[in-house]
Amino acid sequence: MCGIVGYVGQQEAAPILLDGLRRLEYRGYDSAGIAVCGDGQLRVKKSRGRLQVLSDLTHDGADLPGHLGIGHTRWATHGEPNDINAHPHVSQSGRIAVVHNGIIENYAELKEQLLHKGYGFRSETDTEVVAQLLDYYYADCGDIFEAMIRMLHAVDGAYALGIICADYPDRLLCARKDAPLLLGFGEGENMIASDVTAIIRHTRDIAYLDDGELAILSAKGIRVYDSQMRPIEKEHRHVDWDVAAAEKGGYEHFMLKEIHEQPRAIREATAARIQGGQVVLRDLNMTDQQIRDINKIFIVACGSSYHVGMVGKYNLERMLRRSVEVCLASEFRYSDPIVGKGDLVIVISQSGETLDTMAALREAKRRGAHILSIVNVVGSSIARESHTVLYTWAGPEIAVATTKAYSTQMAVLNLLGLYFSQVMGTLDHEVYSAMVRGIEKLPEQMERILEQAEHIHDIAKRCAGREDVFFIGRNLDYALSLEGSLKLKEISYIHSEAYASGELKHGTISLIEDGTLVIALGTYTPLFDKAMSNVVEVQARGAQVLALTTESHAGEMGKRVPMLMTIPDTEEMLLPQLGVVPLQLLSYYIALERGCDIDKPRNLAKSVTVE
Ligand code: F6R
Repeated sequence: MCGIVGYVGQQEAAPILLDGLRRLEYRGYDSAGIAVCGDGQLRVKKSRGRLQVLSDLTHDGADLPGHLGIGHTRWATHGEPNDINAHPHVSQSGRIAVVHNGIIENYAELKEQLLHKGYGFRSETDTEVVAQLLDYYYADCGDIFEAMIRMLHAVDGAYALGIICADYPDRLLCARKDAPLLLGFGEGENMIASDVTAIIRHTRDIAYLDDGELAILSAKGIRVYDSQMRPIEKEHRHVDWDVAAAEKGGYEHFMLKEIHEQPRAIREATAARIQGGQVVLRDLNMTDQQIRDINKIFIVACGSSYHVGMVGKYNLERMLRRSVEVCLASEFRYSDPIVGKGDLVIVISQSGETLDTMAALREAKRRGAHILSIVNVVGSSIARESHTVLYTWAGPEIAVATTKAYSTQMAVLNLLGLYFSQVMGTLDHEVYSAMVRGIEKLPEQMERILEQAEHIHDIAKRCAGREDVFFIGRNLDYALSLEGSLKLKEISYIHSEAYASGELKHGTISLIEDGTLVIALGTYTPLFDKAMSNVVEVQARGAQVLALTTESHAGEMGKRVPMLMTIPDTEEMLLPQLGVVPLQLLSYYIALERGCDIDKPRNLAKSVTVE
């Protein structure tokens, strides 16, 4: 998984590429490189490490003059992160450079064939095969576009490709299959990128390439072709994001900024979907009859999006009185799932590009299920392949650890449950109305939680030295503890596990000893007494407890637990919407105290487009 960017126009390409890569760094950051075409020459600079290393190496791009170029920021899949494996990869003739996001599955076989034809390979990457194959076909036909078409026929796998050739100093070529790529239409300049944040400074007029499509860009325009090489017109989209939305806006990290953006994000995700106390989902592409006829409901996702699904299971089952199966996308796709016509598969994904989630979607679709996705990135692959999309409208999420996307996914899932319950007639009217009012109050209640940031920071200072932490909770608190634990471990590198409290006595409790930190979630009002008993139980074994509960239970919890975080009272089903905010802040501040690279945790990337 990587980020790519390409430029052709009148300006110096290198600084534009470096700036674009800086915004794509969240997609991968173990190495970076750029190739620029100028004075009939191809100049390439690449290096292991963060983008800053490349910027320094090229004197902020000044060393690579030219008006055509491609850039890449890498998250290694084939070959260790080093200078040689970094992209762009240059063909043997030195005339063609390639950047690639994805995996060429048949690269070993192609490499073998090329070795026999006398091609040498420098890197261990699958991508170098693309560069050499282009070289081979180009030598044969003398036309780079023709060479690209032949190369695309030969490769199997997933790719977003950016290609330049020294003999075509005014042409940028690109192609896409199963990896994101968009075109940016500028004034006298045009661009490609994995994500709109890389080009938003230059143009807001964009089009998403679809699978199998390729394009040729020049300063004057862009020609797009479908997989049969027929010229096509792409639908243009206008990006109305504020540029500041893709910047840190005064916060020390994107993650903190995004945590603080949640009140606004929840408002965006919900306000237009609630009218006169009723949930109105105009973007839902399902008839009432289809909704009433739903057979089974599945929720399929990965990571934090899966944790939203866990909350969704409790809430949808309660609202709809039907069983809901939550599945890890990576398991679902290979489980020969019992899913088909009449079933609803709810796919949740921030990026809309997660490969496992996409594969699960395709599997369910192939078997006849209706696919309803909850997605943040507009026009992303998952959104485009779904029958119905409900966007979360959270705006760009840059920090690798998700915060506002998680919250808005949950809000949209709750709205969906409420809407379905209306059509199915399954939820008590009082509860329905209280939920709607509760959702409307969430932004203001989240603001109040955010005001506790300094208090949570103080608690974080006391917890930052731990190496093992246990989260416990029941029902919705259990679902929430999964996310609290993931957030903590991914950014602070503290070993952390989440357990359903009732399971403690079946094994886990043997891990509790003097001073072990247990983060006890006791927000779920109906089971508060049980949560208290579990606190007492672990304290009796020497645990140091940090508790999260509601304002109305703070007094009681406070009698047993001095380290306390609270959330305002709300409807039972909405408690995780509020409960996640202190947990995000806690993880953030613990990671800050430990000096971790919060926005870009080691070994992780934002959009996981590999298996
Ligand atoms: C954790 C996190 C990941 C993602 C997961 C799915 O903070 O962000 O666990 O939730 O990689 O990504 P999406 O939602 O883009 O499919």
